[in-house]
Amino acid sequence: MKQFISVHDVGDINALVRKALDYKADPFKDKKLGAGKRVGCLFLNPSLRTRLSTQVAAQQLGMEAIVFNVSAEGWALEFEEGAIMNGTTVEHVKDAAPILGNYFDILAIRTFPSLKNREEDYNEKIISQFIKYAGVPVVSLETATRHPLQSLTDLVTINETMKHGSRPKVVLTWAPHIKALPQCVPNSFAEWINAWGSADFTIAHPEGYELDESFTNGATINHNQDEALKDADFVYVKNWSAYHQYGEVLTTDPSWMLTNEKLKLTRDAKVMHCLPVRRNIELSDEILDGTHSIITQQASNRVWAAQAVLSALIHG
Ligand code: CP
Repeated sequence: MKQFISVHDVGDINALVRKALDYKADPFKDKKLGAGKRVGCLFLNPSLRTRLSTQVAAQQLGMEAIVFNVSAEGWALEFEEGAIMNGTTVEHVKDAAPILGNYFDILAIRTFPSLKNREEDYNEKIISQFIKYAGVPVVSLETATRHPLQSLTDLVTINETMKHGSRPKVVLTWAPHIKALPQCVPNSFAEWINAWGSADFTIAHPEGYELDESFTNGATINHNQDEALKDADFVYVKNWSAYHQYGEVLTTDPSWMLTNEKLKLTRDAKVMHCLPVRRNIELSDEILDGTHSIITQQASNRVWAAQAVLSALIHG
């Protein structure tokens, strides 16, 4: 693997999932693989799971992970080609990225979308410039349109939980939220489930919350959550803001929040969420604290997904 930006960088999804599960079974089996190597983790936005799981994963491969909170501690970066830098930005990415490429063997970057300019966000203006100028493999720690380490983790979690030999019904359902959130997680989850091809995949959302079809093509779309939940084996709960009316919150309808009553429609489904979650807005206490939730297991699996990806990149 040369970079990890999307599912398109992965040759064999099932092999990568197996690699992650192998690390879960034996975390230190490659403890010398990354000796003498460094991954630089640049955070332009906040994180708990992604930051710490990547550090743990690197450490278990004998690799050093250096974290830099660019937004809090670094110079304000400029990404516009030909910019006359007489404003708030201090350093151009084309000057900073090659230096980072000399300091690190792998560069990992988290950057959120603006949710104001769809074209810029969906062109992945920020990470594409790091890829262009860094000269080393780049890993997405979540970008404007995707969260591939999360999606790999989600597939790992589904694989280890599903009944072997079955074809699960997986439902991604929109949930209410008070703020406008990115489409990265649902885009990416849809892209990975579609590429995996081993599930019946439905996306449930209120009208107006259609995602970019280039991510969702192949999924069944249903605007009736109850219908969508019928016979589900996995329910992935996530809020996102509108793609077409870009970045807007069109409704906060609380009836879309998953409850134990709604889960009765499913086949005793397991409930997933990428976290962080706003309790009793996006997901109810009864679900989060109940027996259907595999959310802690899912978040814990972030380590094994990151370890599998770093290992694959070291192998090249
Ligand atoms: N799911 C996820 O990416 O969590 P963090 O934002 O805490 O990294």
